[in-house]
Amino acid sequence: MRIIAYGIRADEKPFLDKWSEENADVEVISTDQLLDDSTVNQAKGADGVVTYQQKPYTADVLDQLGKFGIKYLSLRNVGVDNIDVAAAKRNGIQVTNVPAYSPQAIAEFTVTQLMRLLRRTNTFDRKMANGDLRWAPDIAEELNQKTVGVYATGRIGRAAIQIYKGFGAKVIAYDIYHNPELEKEGLYVETPDELYAKADVISLHAPATKENEHMLNDAAFNKMKNGVYILNPARGALVDTDALIRALDSGKVAGAAIDTYEDEVGIFNTDFGSFDQIPDDRLKNLMKRDNVLVSPHIAFYTKRAVRNMVYFAMDANKSLIETGKSDKLVQL
Ligand code: COI
Repeated sequence: MRIIAYGIRADEKPFLDKWSEENADVEVISTDQLLDDSTVNQAKGADGVVTYQQKPYTADVLDQLGKFGIKYLSLRNVGVDNIDVAAAKRNGIQVTNVPAYSPQAIAEFTVTQLMRLLRRTNTFDRKMANGDLRWAPDIAEELNQKTVGVYATGRIGRAAIQIYKGFGAKVIAYDIYHNPELEKEGLYVETPDELYAKADVISLHAPATKENEHMLNDAAFNKMKNGVYILNPARGALVDTDALIRALDSGKVAGAAIDTYEDEVGIFNTDFGSFDQIPDDRLKNLMKRDNVLVSPHIAFYTKRAVRNMVYFAMDANKSLIETGKSDKLVQL
């Protein structure tokens, strides 16, 4: 059995090598290149493909995999929004993902960023670097005084709720699907509008779908409390960036932590050499603000998460090749 793993980063390689040692019956080929038109030929002769990338898995690439007779594509991440679903289906390609490599990694990072916003650490870091060691006027706020509105209560949302509660915050939540435990606690509100109206902090944990694209737009921001905080470690497409900039300018939004950005593909996880060279003015507008924390989609990026992404995706691909089954199959 042969599996080709695309886009393998230096931090993933030791985990892949270890998996390979433990699965001597599998021939593992790995490349640091991403899966696209120019690299898909390397998959010829493989039984399965393991991959992770933020740029799209296009119809051309999936058709080509189909021609090579490859039916199994295992993603090392959770999001499947960059797959051409029609092309995967017509080529009979089954897709697995890793739904829970470490929900805590993302939840911990989200709350870290909120704490940084509330405690104004960004402002104090900058002031101190300039020799200004005064307190005023940058007085902080406390999380235990806040109502946090968690949008979507899947694994990551629920992990975040645990941490928010630990800080003593009041938590409310919105989701179409109600988790029975949270339901018992009476955490759910009925509509997103109710969440917007009641929350001091909006913590987004939903996958990107056609329905929720730009769900945080001008209309949504207008329904929120003045001085709300916005946290988006989920998907850039959920937030209309222009509307966010307007809401920051007006003071409606007091601060935002943006780990995902709607135009991040090709920008995040790239070294541009200097701030000026970053080829995106809207992103630079956000990055220049003390009350906005932009991070390059790193909420997931921990040793435990990366190990699990590699192991669970390789296990899923092997299982599909051997048995045609995997508990990580995605319903496309
Ligand atoms: C995902 O797992 O879908 C993520 O968003 C993390 C990714 C950058 C590896």
